[in-house]
Amino acid sequence: MFEGGGDKHRDSSSMITNEEYCHRQSAFLADIPLDNVVLIPTNPVMVRSRDTNFPFRANSYILYLCGWNEPEGLWMAHHNGTKWITSLFVQPRDEKKEIWEGRRIGVEQASTQFPVDEAYSIDDLDEVIKSLLSDSKGINYIQGLNSNLDELVKQSGSKYSDPRPVLDSLRILKSPQEIEVMKKSAEIASQAHINSMKAGHPNVGEWELQSVIESHFVNCKSTWAYPSIVGGGENATILHYKSNNEVINDGELVLIDAGCEVLGYASDITRTWPVNGTFSQPQREIYELVLKAQLAAIEACKVNNHWKSMHEAASIVIAQGLIDLGILQCSLKDALGDNFDGQYRKFFMHGTGHLLGLDVHDVGGGRQGDDSPGPLLQPGMVVTVEPGLYFASWRSDIDVPDRYAGIGIRIEDDILITDDGPVNLSENCPKSIEMIEALVGSGGGNHV
Ligand code: GLY
Ligand code: MN
Ligand code: MN
Repeated sequence: MFEGGGDKHRDSSSMITNEEYCHRQSAFLADIPLDNVVLIPTNPVMVRSRDTNFPFRANSYILYLCGWNEPEGLWMAHHNGTKWITSLFVQPRDEKKEIWEGRRIGVEQASTQFPVDEAYSIDDLDEVIKSLLSDSKGINYIQGLNSNLDELVKQSGSKYSDPRPVLDSLRILKSPQEIEVMKKSAEIASQAHINSMKAGHPNVGEWELQSVIESHFVNCKSTWAYPSIVGGGENATILHYKSNNEVINDGELVLIDAGCEVLGYASDITRTWPVNGTFSQPQREIYELVLKAQLAAIEACKVNNHWKSMHEAASIVIAQGLIDLGILQCSLKDALGDNFDGQYRKFFMHGTGHLLGLDVHDVGGGRQGDDSPGPLLQPGMVVTVEPGLYFASWRSDIDVPDRYAGIGIRIEDDILITDDGPVNLSENCPKSIEMIEALVGSGGGNHV
C-alpha cells in the first residue's frame, strides 16, 4: 500500500495527514477478504436548475479513506497476491473544462500527493476494472451512487457485500487528528453563535441572524454542515424550521441551531436567547430546566455508560421539572413512563443526541431516544447533547399554562468522550443566563 507522498496539493491548513489516511485504509482492509475488490464511489453531482448544480460535497466514506473531494471520484483496493493495491479514479485534467468549471487535481497529482498507490482517469474505469471484477470472488461496494459502476458490478456476477458496517465501526472512534479538526469546527461555530448574540435586537430578522452566522463560517473558509435553523418566537417550537424569514419581536426568544464543516467534519450547536437581552421569568424557568437537563446528560457522557444513559439523565430532570412547574400533573413515574415514553415526551419529542463526525448525524450507532441499543460510550466518540422543551400554542394535543405558551428552547453542545470524563468541544459558546444576557445586543460583531 502507498507509503509516503506529500500533502502539497491539499490546503496547507489540512490537518489529516496521508499517514493517517493510510492507517485508516489498512485498518479497513484488514477486515476485507483478500479475493475481494473494494469500490468506494463518491456522491453524484446533483442538478439544481438546468445547468446549475448543487455545490458538490464528497461522500463521507471516500473523504474518510483518502480525503478526495472532487466529483466523479472512486477509491479502489484490490489484492495482488502480495499486498493490497489502492487506487483513485479521478476526473482527468482538461483545459477546456477547467476554464469553465475550475481546476482539477488530475491523475498525476492524485497519484503523487494523495494516499494511494495508483491513479487513473475515470474515463478508463471500464477498461481497468473489468478484468479485476471478473477475477474477483466478491465485491465490496456502495451501491446507488454511480449508475455506470452499478451496472458494471451487476454484470460481473460477483458476490456483492456492503463495506459500510466495517467503515462505520472505524469512523465511530475519532483519532487525535480528527479531534483537532472537530475542535476547530466547534470553535468556528461557537464564535458564529457569539456574533449572532452580539448582533441581536428586537425586530431583527431571522434571516439577518442567519447571515451573521453563515458569514462567519465563510470568513473561516468553512460552510454550513446542515441548513441553519433560526427560529424566533413560536418558530423555535418547530424542530426542523428552516424558512428563517420572519421578524423576531421584542420579548421573544430565538433558537439558533447552526454548525459548520471543516475538512468535512461537522459541528452542531444550538443556543436559545432573548432578542432583547433579558429572559422573562417564564422563559428563564424553562431555560434553567433545559440547561439543568443538558448538564445532567453531559455528566452521563462517561466511558462504558450505555448509549441511553444521556437520554435517561436528561429525561429524568425534564420530567421532574415539568411536574415542579405545574405543566404535568402526575407522578414522576407516569411522567417518565415505563420506557422513557411517558407524558414528558409531548414536550421533549426528540432524542438527547447523536454521534457527530463527517456526517452531522454520524454513523456507528443509534440515535438517543430511538429504539436501537446504540454503542457503549468509548473514548474518541463525539456526541451531541441537546435536550429541548417545546410548547407550541397551536398544538391541539397539549395543554400548558399560558405563561409558557409559545416557548421553544434547545441547548446543544458537542461532547468528546474521554477516559478523564466529557470534554465539551463547544464550551466557548456561552450558555449561562448571565453570559447570554451580557452578550446579546452588545455589538462589536456584524450588527444588522
Ligand atoms: N442540527 C441537527 C440536530 O441537531 O440534530
Ligand atoms: Mn443541531
Ligand atoms: Mn444535533
